[in-house]
Amino acid sequence: MKVGGRFLGVAFLAMGIAAAGLSLGAGTKDAKKADPAKSEIERGRYLMITMGCNDCHTPGTLYGEPDFSRMLSGSELGWRGPWGTTFARNLTPDPETGLGTWTAEEIANALRSGVRKDGSVLKPPMPWPNTSQLTEADLHALVAFIRSLPPVKHAVPAALPPGGEYAGPVVPLPAPGKWDAPASMSAPPPAAGTTK
Ligand code: HEC
Repeated sequence: MKVGGRFLGVAFLAMGIAAAGLSLGAGTKDAKKADPAKSEIERGRYLMITMGCNDCHTPGTLYGEPDFSRMLSGSELGWRGPWGTTFARNLTPDPETGLGTWTAEEIANALRSGVRKDGSVLKPPMPWPNTSQLTEADLHALVAFIRSLPPVKHAVPAALPPGGEYAGPVVPLPAPGKWDAPASMSAPPPAAGTTK
């Protein structure tokens, strides 16, 4: 009994030392990882991927093979609808063809409000109503990640007004049926006798 107890005591002591060693090791590793700027960019990367920004902004993604060496460098696939034809823009920090001349706040503001720094509104299918729901901390992390990307020189075609012709590939959205039509396209005429 006594011997067994002592043996157990020693065993527990040894386990205690091992556990302390382990947690000490983990602590040092965490301290090394905890560069706040780096972890913000990591979080931004996580948000960018899970929010689907690659889908439209990274070439190949819609075809099942994203080319991450050209991550978020824009697309030449046109999206055609009542708004005209739009193209997912180059988000990399290239000053001529990307967002290189935008400040972090200007990018954040476009994602928050759907309005670019020149006052124009982001057209479909850019899902800014989704990004407008991000917390400020997440929004800043997402922008920090975008700004950390390697710049890629790639001018996407300019957006076209309704009726504009584009020779490249286009995703044409057909006129919606009754169920899918946005209110602006399907508002019934005001009933007779109402003030509206
Ligand atoms: C379904 C396709 C699609 C997805 C997904 C998408 N975008 Fe876009 N994005 C577009 C299109 C199209 C435009 C251009 C809209 C226009 O011309 O008005 C655009 C424009 C932008 C712009 C404006 C850039 C400029 O030069 O004007 C920013 C910033 C942007 N997207 C960021 C993002 C981020 C961040 C995500 C992920 C959270 C994202 N987008 C997801 C299609 C998409």
